[in-house]
Amino acid sequence: MCGIVGYVGSRQAAPIMLDGLKRLEYRGYDSAGIVVCSGEGLTLCKTKGYVDHLSDMVCNGDALRGTVGLGHTRWATHGRPSDENAHPHLSDGGKIAVVHNGIIENYAQLREMLVAKGVTFRSETDTEVAVNLISYFYKGDLLKAVAEAALRLEGSYALGILCEDCPDMIVAVRKESPLILGIGRGENFLASDVTALIPHTRDVIYMEDGEIATLTKDEVRVYSRDLVEIKKETARVEWDISAAEKGGYEHFMFKEIMEQPEAIRKTVSPRLRGGRVQIEGLDFTPEYLKSLKKIYLVGCGSAYHVGVVAKYNMEKMLRIPVETALASEFRYSSPLVDERTLVICISQSGETADTIAAMREAKRLGAKVLSIVNVMGSTIANESDYCVYTWAGPEIAVATTKAYSTQLAVTYLLTLYFAELLGVIPDDEYKKLVEALSELPEKVDEILKNKEHIQYLASLYFNKDNIFFIGRNIDYALTLEASLKLKEISYIHSDAYAAGELKHGTISLIEDGTLVIAMASYVRLLEKTISNIVEVRSRGAEILTLTTKSAEAQVSRVSDHVIAIPDAEEMVLPSLAVVPMQLFAYYVALSRGCSIDKPRNLAKSVTVE
Ligand code: AGP
Repeated sequence: MCGIVGYVGSRQAAPIMLDGLKRLEYRGYDSAGIVVCSGEGLTLCKTKGYVDHLSDMVCNGDALRGTVGLGHTRWATHGRPSDENAHPHLSDGGKIAVVHNGIIENYAQLREMLVAKGVTFRSETDTEVAVNLISYFYKGDLLKAVAEAALRLEGSYALGILCEDCPDMIVAVRKESPLILGIGRGENFLASDVTALIPHTRDVIYMEDGEIATLTKDEVRVYSRDLVEIKKETARVEWDISAAEKGGYEHFMFKEIMEQPEAIRKTVSPRLRGGRVQIEGLDFTPEYLKSLKKIYLVGCGSAYHVGVVAKYNMEKMLRIPVETALASEFRYSSPLVDERTLVICISQSGETADTIAAMREAKRLGAKVLSIVNVMGSTIANESDYCVYTWAGPEIAVATTKAYSTQLAVTYLLTLYFAELLGVIPDDEYKKLVEALSELPEKVDEILKNKEHIQYLASLYFNKDNIFFIGRNIDYALTLEASLKLKEISYIHSDAYAAGELKHGTISLIEDGTLVIAMASYVRLLEKTISNIVEVRSRGAEILTLTTKSAEAQVSRVSDHVIAIPDAEEMVLPSLAVVPMQLFAYYVALSRGCSIDKPRNLAKSVTVE
């Protein structure tokens, strides 16, 4: 949700920032801009549209000379996408420039105060308030002015600030929006995400809430809110640049789908030692687990859908009540949470505003929070009591695939880990499931090898206006994800229904030619799902069924087409069943000519409420 880059060094800043913005474009892409500082002041260029457009306007950066700069790619919150509302924003008078990610919640009061003091505003954004507030406090010391302004800004912000009086320095401040400092040699960097830093350096400092930093080409300093210098650790990013590039694939989404076997292997195998699940950093005791009244699984979008699958698996095995909650609902629902509740927060980015708020609320109420997170050093990873990382590597496409799959894998690990501690799983069952988990990468690979079949099915159905997904139990949980994936990137309307629920109203929408995709991998309820398939088929629906190889013949009799996945233990089936649905959404979107990696109106990481 908005990407920020900053550079200070001896090279020309603009081309570096344009490259950084391209890498961050998944965070928001309705407008883009850069500002550079040379001895002659600030030069700015910004425009509505993609970074490529900005790049053309500044001749790939050649037209903007200067070795210090800031760049921004926007996902609009306050003010529609337009040239005026694009960042960077200049203070009235043009001395200070700011790029911003987040929302200034008290912008209306601050704007009124500043207008009363004679400040003129040019955009509809909340950001212009931040830059003018800094300018208001500026009396020759930019760091001090930023600290003063930060005390008065409410909401969330990561800000990069340049001032023409100090052309060799960038100031940065963060609160509830990510900001990472990249440490180079004779040059330093600033970005919302390491993907923009990795071509230049792997040494990074994760800024924390309330911290303010100054960057010059020779040093980076970090201060607390009251300007006491803080000694920060430098972390080393382990993955390399190829992980954040398309590597010959047409889209990041497709690349990430294809990376799933490896991502699952990296997430699972280090945690299966000597045939047992061992998860670093977890020290739960049987007494603590037995004391639990409830486990909550909380997340947004696909991360929430992971929770829905995990609820079925955990409740079945652990016999502890497990609830799922959308993070945006959880925080305002007076949840029944106390020290006898374990809250599991799931988030790829670790920066989703609603999930952060849910985590903080759960902690406030006394619960322990365990997070499942992909991005190292992110807010949720840092603030939760326990963090189990998914090792999916950077996920760039807005539509999540490998993060979803690795999150699922972590929930299986946790289920087995808890079950063993609670003593509720027979040893042979445990061994069978550990084996099923270690076989997952191979089986996902087998499905990917048959992708042409899914491409063929997509070519039959890409013109549909409405698609229904039905399923029972874990298959129902999967329909939620399959339907979201399709909607998100192909813009086809679709609905996910528990198969038994359709006849309580929605079946009235089924008519000749309506496509119903039946998820029927949960063989235990196959007969029931087949009855539901027959009900819609006799009302004219076309049926595409996903099932396991052993049930293929049986479902073929009631389906127009079948996708068969390898047989596997029930618990891990969702990891297999989701892959054809990701491919289906991808190929449908491709046939419709959609912008797959950057679907309209969306952004990868939703850092506002
Ligand atoms: C899924 O394809 C979406 N892009 C979206 O639903 C996403 O899963 C959700 O916004 C949560 O993001 P997070 O995992 O980074 O918290």
